[in-house]
Parts: sequence; C-alpha cells; structure tokens
Amino acid sequence: MRFDVLTLFPDIFQGYLGQSLLKRAIDAGLVEVRLHDIRDWARDKHSTVDDRPFGGGPGMVLKVEPTVECVEAVRRQDAEPGHLVMLTPQGRRLDQPCVERLAEHRRILLLCGRYEGFDERIRLILRPEEISIGDFVLNGGEVAAMAIIDAVIRLVPGVLGDEDSSEEDSFSGRRRWLEFAQYTRPREYRGLEVPEVLLSGNHQQIARWREENSRQRTLQRRVDLFDQRPPERTDEDRAN
Ligand code: ADE
Repeated sequence: MRFDVLTLFPDIFQGYLGQSLLKRAIDAGLVEVRLHDIRDWARDKHSTVDDRPFGGGPGMVLKVEPTVECVEAVRRQDAEPGHLVMLTPQGRRLDQPCVERLAEHRRILLLCGRYEGFDERIRLILRPEEISIGDFVLNGGEVAAMAIIDAVIRLVPGVLGDEDSSEEDSFSGRRRWLEFAQYTRPREYRGLEVPEVLLSGNHQQIARWREENSRQRTLQRRVDLFDQRPPERTDEDRAN
C-alpha cells in the first residue's frame, strides 16, 4: 500500500513515520509513505504557494498552479495513478466504512491544505474525494492525513499481528458497537477490582460478558450507532 502525502509541511510527518506500528509496516515493505512538498512546484523565485482571496476576506488561499502540477507529477511517478483524497472540513466525514473502502486502493494520494482553503479550481480540475475527519477546523490537513494513514494501515494484511486483529475493533467488520471494557494486571487497584468473570477462564461466559458490556456502553455513549444500522445477525441469532 502506497501513500503519497502532498503538503507544505512534510517535516510534520517525520516523528509519526518513525513510530512503532507504522515503522514496522514500512520496514516490512507492507506500507510506503512518500512525502512531497507542494512548494517544490511553485513557479516564482519566492516559491509562492498561497495568495490573498479574490473578493477580499481574511487569510490566504492555496494556489491552483503549484497544487495541480504537484498532484499531476506525483501521479505520474507510478503506473497506478492512485486515489486522490483532499483533506478538508467540507468533505464527507471519515468513518470506518470509509476507511475500509480506502483500504481497497493500492495507492492513495493525500492532499493537505493550509490557510483558508484551496482555490476552487483545484477541486474542479482534480476531482478529488473530499474527506473531513470531523466537524471542527484544523490548521491544515496534515493531522487528518495522519489519521487516515493510521486507520487504513490497520486493515492492510500483515500490518497487525494475529493477536491484535482489527476485526474486533469498534466499528469494524461485524462489530458496529463500541469496544467492551478491558483490564490487565493488577487484579485490584485502589479498591477497583477486575470483574470476576474475566478471571474465570470460561470463554463462553467471557464472550457473553463482553458482548453485554459492549452493548451497554454503546447504549450509554453512542446510541446513534444503534440507529444507524441494526447490529448484524450472528450465527447464534440465526440458530434461534
Ligand atoms: N483541514 C482542516 N480541518 C480539517 C478537518 N476537520 N478534516 C480534514 N481536513 C481538515
């Protein structure tokens, strides 16, 4: 899986790329992340990539020429042109089904904006998929791009060990509920004890407790998840 990140601030990614799970995936050749500085495609001697908006108003707008030419040049670097994603608060909101869909691509280009936004012609020429990571405004698309890479690589075969398969994640696969409460050692801390059932070794009872805990949490915290789509029927449901 290859990601190409197009940004004015490639250095922001350095620390993130060196962290454990992603670094391991990169070292194993499962994931590749290439950073591209949009400024390298600026045409003038001051390397201008942004300008004041026509019609007035605050802030600066990302210019059309360096951005479009950067995307086109990066696309040509591989026989697979890749799926172009523009990070913007105006895009469709990222959720796990969207992450699952993105993970089907072999190559994704992530176009990060800054300032007050993109010159509209960037959208008109490149026709990207526009994605937002939530209804709040970030200073730029870089953190959103990292969120997408982080969520997508969990679904790339081989990136997670068998032990921590993404199938059990909240929102993923069959699971549309929030994840159940987890505990590790010690068994007791400041009077708070690990629920007895989790120490019982009875896998059926543990599974039932987790299912119920998951359901309760979803009901208390995110009742909208029940409304969106009914939980899928399990083999157990079908047998009854
Ligand atoms: N750029 C600025 N805010 C953003 C958001 N919420 N999601 C994606 N990109 C952004």
